[in-house]
Amino acid sequence: MSHNTFGHLFRVTTWGESHGPALGCVVDGCPPGVKLTAADLQHWLDRRRPGTSRFVTQRAEPDAVKILSGVFEDERTGGQVTTGTPIALHIDNVDQRSKDYSEIRDVYRPGHADYVYDSKYGVRDYRGGGRSSARETAARVAAGGVARKVLAHALGHEITIRAALIQIGPDAIDRSAWDWDETERNDFWCPDASAAARWAIDLDAARKAGSSLGAIVEVTASGVPDGLGAPIYGKLDADIASALMSINAVKGVEIGAGFSAAMLSGELNADEMSMGADGRPRFASNNAGGILGGISTGQDIIARFAVKPTSSILKPRKTITADGRETEVSTKGRHDPCVGIRAAPVAEAMLACVLADHLLRHRGQNGA
Ligand SMILES: Cc1cc2nc3c(=O)[nH]c(=O)nc-3n(C[C@H](O)[C@H](O)[C@H](O)COP(=O)(O)O)c2cc1C
Repeated sequence: MSHNTFGHLFRVTTWGESHGPALGCVVDGCPPGVKLTAADLQHWLDRRRPGTSRFVTQRAEPDAVKILSGVFEDERTGGQVTTGTPIALHIDNVDQRSKDYSEIRDVYRPGHADYVYDSKYGVRDYRGGGRSSARETAARVAAGGVARKVLAHALGHEITIRAALIQIGPDAIDRSAWDWDETERNDFWCPDASAAARWAIDLDAARKAGSSLGAIVEVTASGVPDGLGAPIYGKLDADIASALMSINAVKGVEIGAGFSAAMLSGELNADEMSMGADGRPRFASNNAGGILGGISTGQDIIARFAVKPTSSILKPRKTITADGRETEVSTKGRHDPCVGIRAAPVAEAMLACVLADHLLRHRGQNGA
C-alpha cells in the first residue's frame, strides 16, 4: 500500500526521487478551459528552487517544468488551455551528486527517514534520501501553480495565497513590523526587515558550526469565498492541516489562534460579528483563522506550522548502522541549513491545492 496521491476532485499524484533522472506529478480533475502555460508554473517553481542564496542548499537545479499532457492550443482561437484530461508535469534532475551519500548507505541519519524506510520497505534509495527527499516538493509547487489557475478561473478573481517565515530558531519577528513587500526583498520570505538581518547572522553561525535551525512558517489565503469545506470528515481546517503536515520536516500545525486559543477566554476568542453596509457579515477579529465548523467564513485563511531543524548536519551524532552496530554519523553534501525557507513556497502550493479541491467539491455538492 502506498500513498502518493492527495485531493478528491483536484487530485495530485507525485512521482520521482531525489537522484532519479526526473520527478513530477499528474494533476487529475482540472476543469477544462483554464488558461495554462509552463511559464505560469515556472514562476512558482523559481521561488522554491535550490541554490538561490547561501542560506539554502547549493544543489544547482533549474527546476524547469514541462507540461506533457492535458493542454491544447487551438490554432483558431489561440492561447493554451487545459482540456480536462490528466496534466502531466515533468521536471528534470540535473545536479545529482550521489557520491555525497555513500557514507549514509549503511548508516542512519538520526532525525531523517533512513531507518524507517529500511525497516518498512527493506530497500532504500539512499541517494539524496530518495523519495523522502524534499526534492519531491518541487512537484507539489508545480501542482500548486495549476491550482491557483483553477481558483482564479472558477471564481473570476485571484485568491492571494502567500507564506512568510515568522521565526527561525528561537528568534521571532515583530508582528507590528509586518510588511508583505519585505518578504520579496530578503532571503527568508521574512516580513520584518530587522528579523531578516538577525537571521542572516544566526544562520551563518549555525551553518559554520555544522548545525541547523528550525522555523515557523505562516501561510494565508485572502479572497477565499465562504462555504468551502465538507463537514464532517472533509473539514477545510482538517484538510489544510493534513496537507501542511505532509510537508517534510513539519512537526506541528495550527489554524488561526491555534494553540494560543487555549489561553483566551470565550469572549476574547469568539470573533464578534456585525453587518457590513454591503449586506455581508463583518468579523471583528480572526481567531478562527477563517474557518468555523470546517467551513470557510470568507475571512483570510491563516495557518502556521513548525519545521524541525535539518537533520543532515556536519556535527557528529550517535547512530546505528543497517547491520546493527553503534557508530557516529556526520552528514556532508549539500543541505538546507534551515528548511523553513524553501518550505514557504511549498506551503503556498499545498494551500492552493486544498482550496482548489474544496472549491470543486463545493460546486459538486452545492452547484455554483
Ligand atoms: C524544502 C525542504 C527542504 C529540505 N531540505 C533538507 C535537506 O537539505 N537535508 C535534510 O536532511 N532534510 C531536508 N528536509 C527535511 C527532510 O526531507 C525530512 O526531515 C525527512 O524527509 C524526514 O521526514 P520528516 O522530517 O517529515 O519526519 C527538507 C524539507 C523541506 C520541506
